[in-house]
Amino acid sequence: MSDTRIRTALVTGADRGLGYEIVLQLLQKGFRVYAGKFNDEYSLLDDLKKDQPELVPIKLDVSIYEDIIAAEKIIREDSGYLDLLVSNAAFMGGPRNDAIGGEEPVDYDLLRFSFNTNSAPAPVLTDVFLPLLLKSDFRCLHFTSSEISSVRLMKRTGGMRYAMTKTALNVSVRMMFNQLRPLGFRFRLFQPGWMKRMLPDGTLDPRARLDPKQSAEMAVRLILEERPDEDRLALVDYLGNELSF
Ligand SMILES: NC(=O)c1ccc[n+]([C@@H]2O[C@H](COP(=O)([O-])OP(=O)(O)OC[C@H]3O[C@@H](n4cnc5c(N)ncnc54)[C@H](OP(=O)(O)O)[C@@H]3O)[C@@H](O)[C@H]2O)c1
Repeated sequence: MSDTRIRTALVTGADRGLGYEIVLQLLQKGFRVYAGKFNDEYSLLDDLKKDQPELVPIKLDVSIYEDIIAAEKIIREDSGYLDLLVSNAAFMGGPRNDAIGGEEPVDYDLLRFSFNTNSAPAPVLTDVFLPLLLKSDFRCLHFTSSEISSVRLMKRTGGMRYAMTKTALNVSVRMMFNQLRPLGFRFRLFQPGWMKRMLPDGTLDPRARLDPKQSAEMAVRLILEERPDEDRLALVDYLGNELSF
């Protein structure tokens, strides 16, 4: 396989926030980037597309199988291979109706919805894109997780719904690692930190610690750098520190 051809990446949940910033930085590193568009309220990707010929926005709701199949067809017919999958989309919000014995009953539908967005898509995306990923020597799979995914580190009592989905994501990544590492895949399980949310115009809500750009810089650095211990799955944070999970 030639190393001189342009690298290609698919980034899910790229309308805003970390996904959008990862798209920007991959473009700067010379990637052709397929960017998952989910919410019509955000036009940041369409605006960026005007100056970025290597950006290809693709409609992609990761909880819909037909969308994933359609995205694979677009990339197969456009490039014919995929070097990097960034599985980043997530649903983090919603009412706090996920506490045992809380004021409201646990919202079963919202729990299922959260799994359908945050956990189930990772193995499905990897499975659907595997033939295109196998055509690459780069073979990198990035999954955006969180420190709240860690059973060992969990001290909280609230926010069970979101935490459960990220723990489930980690287990699927571990099992994909067991299966695909022997085929040369490099895995990145990433904790981006407490990031400011991006508003539709691209400005940041100040109520958090980190600018998503900072987290994206580390995410892309980890993607591009080969680790000496690729045979070990690690959850790594926005500072490059490894976390227990
Ligand atoms: N923000 C934090 O402090 C923090 C901390 C730890 C981990 N993380 C993780 O980091 C990642 C990015 O977070 P962020 O702060 O950038 O969040 P964000 O601004 O909400 O970005 C996530 C993107 O995914 C989209 N999305 C939601 N459901 C989707 C679906 N079914 N299909 C495709 N896209 C969908 C969202 O659309 P909408 O705009 O319509 O919701 C949004 O554009 C997530 O995986 C999150 O769990 C975030």
